[in-house]
Amino acid sequence: MTRHTIGLLLGTEDDWPSAFTEILRRLGPVDGPGGPHAFDIERITIEPFSLRDRPRYDLVIDRLAYWYYHPREWLKKVAMMDGVYLLNSPFTFQSMEKHAAYCAMMRLGLKVPETVLVPYKNPLDNSRYAYTAARYNQPFDLDAIAQKIGYPLFMKPYDGGAWRGVSRINNVAELHAAYDASGEMLMHLQKAIDYDVFARSLSIGAETMVMKFQPDQPMHLRYAVEHDFLSPDAGLEVVTISKLVNAFFRWEFNSCETLVKGGEAYPIDYANACPDVALTSLHYYFPWAMKALVKWTVFALVTGRPARLDLETDRFFAVADEPGLSYGDKLGEYRKLADAYFDTERYQDFCATSLARLDQLVLDWVTGPGFDQLLVRTVQAVYPEHEHDQFIAHLRGLLHLWVRDESTRLAAA
Ligand SMILES: Nc1ncnc2c1ncn2[C@@H]1O[C@H](COP(=O)(O)OP(=O)(O)O)[C@@H](O)[C@H]1O
Ligand SMILES: [Mg+2]
Repeated sequence: MTRHTIGLLLGTEDDWPSAFTEILRRLGPVDGPGGPHAFDIERITIEPFSLRDRPRYDLVIDRLAYWYYHPREWLKKVAMMDGVYLLNSPFTFQSMEKHAAYCAMMRLGLKVPETVLVPYKNPLDNSRYAYTAARYNQPFDLDAIAQKIGYPLFMKPYDGGAWRGVSRINNVAELHAAYDASGEMLMHLQKAIDYDVFARSLSIGAETMVMKFQPDQPMHLRYAVEHDFLSPDAGLEVVTISKLVNAFFRWEFNSCETLVKGGEAYPIDYANACPDVALTSLHYYFPWAMKALVKWTVFALVTGRPARLDLETDRFFAVADEPGLSYGDKLGEYRKLADAYFDTERYQDFCATSLARLDQLVLDWVTGPGFDQLLVRTVQAVYPEHEHDQFIAHLRGLLHLWVRDESTRLAAA
């Protein structure tokens, strides 16, 4: 028996780690090279480490390091020194923010809305600033930049997420109010897309789920349960863009946002590695996400998939620079590169053979009492007491819907 240890780096959440652990427990050993492979899961604790220590883990799933810097540095150490398999490259994850993602996508020929980065509003807390500003900061006309982009537009930081520092700007007065308030945040101005559909795609390894997103709704209603809300062409395009960005940056657990208007796909937010996969926000899509996470980690471990830290950007840029290729042709080529990176065909074969029992196993679990207990426990941990009944009913309803749809799907297969 080959044993693999999976480490989980967690924040406050207990829902998806419990689900992930339970599914792997029910799955049991998986056939692979050299016989059966078994999996142990541990929650990683924060401790001093010698940079030459050998970690116990073969693979780590991280939901903590985006804000907690001790494990963030440890991830770089274990990636660089020990070949631990991480779902997201800690190097690109840390250095490639919104800004770098816009640049990459523009370089690859995608339709990122017009975007300008403006200098800081307020002096940085740095004794050299006054000299640099006086000598090198050119005066600039914020109104003229906004005018050229056109209203409405969005002001948003070069980095970050969860709407931090993001505002919609309709006129000159709002422009100045937002810029004055930006302080030491470094800001982009970006043309607003008056979209028909907001598509949010969650990618886990070789799989991508595109969901209809409603950003104005409260958290538990943001993902609408709606299938076929994009035309087949637009759907393919959104999936391809997501896979492309993820392959390009070596992100295997990321969520991406595309605005679709009149059949055109405009990517706006593509650097959200280690995204929220909470039961309370994903609801209907939660079983899919857990299965994808189990499948991808098991696939990576059992097949000995090497962690790839090199970016090979030239291969992507060569497609972008190829004369005579249309936008659609380029997407087709990018899709091939992304599928090669994710080893999509082998992954699908592996799922169909070694993991064939997973669908039924997860359906049985979600239908049973263990899952319901997890659902209740999660609502109790997340919402105030007077909202428990409401949210338990809400989530049970959506999960029943999933059970019904999934039963139909498996019966037809
Ligand atoms: N160019 C844009 N056009 C239309 N809406 C936008 C645009 N940029 C951002 N938004 C809106 O603002 C929200 C937050 O911006 P986003 O770039 O996703 O930042 P964050 O990383 O904080 O989520 C988006 O979910 C979307 O609703
Ligand atoms: Mg966003």
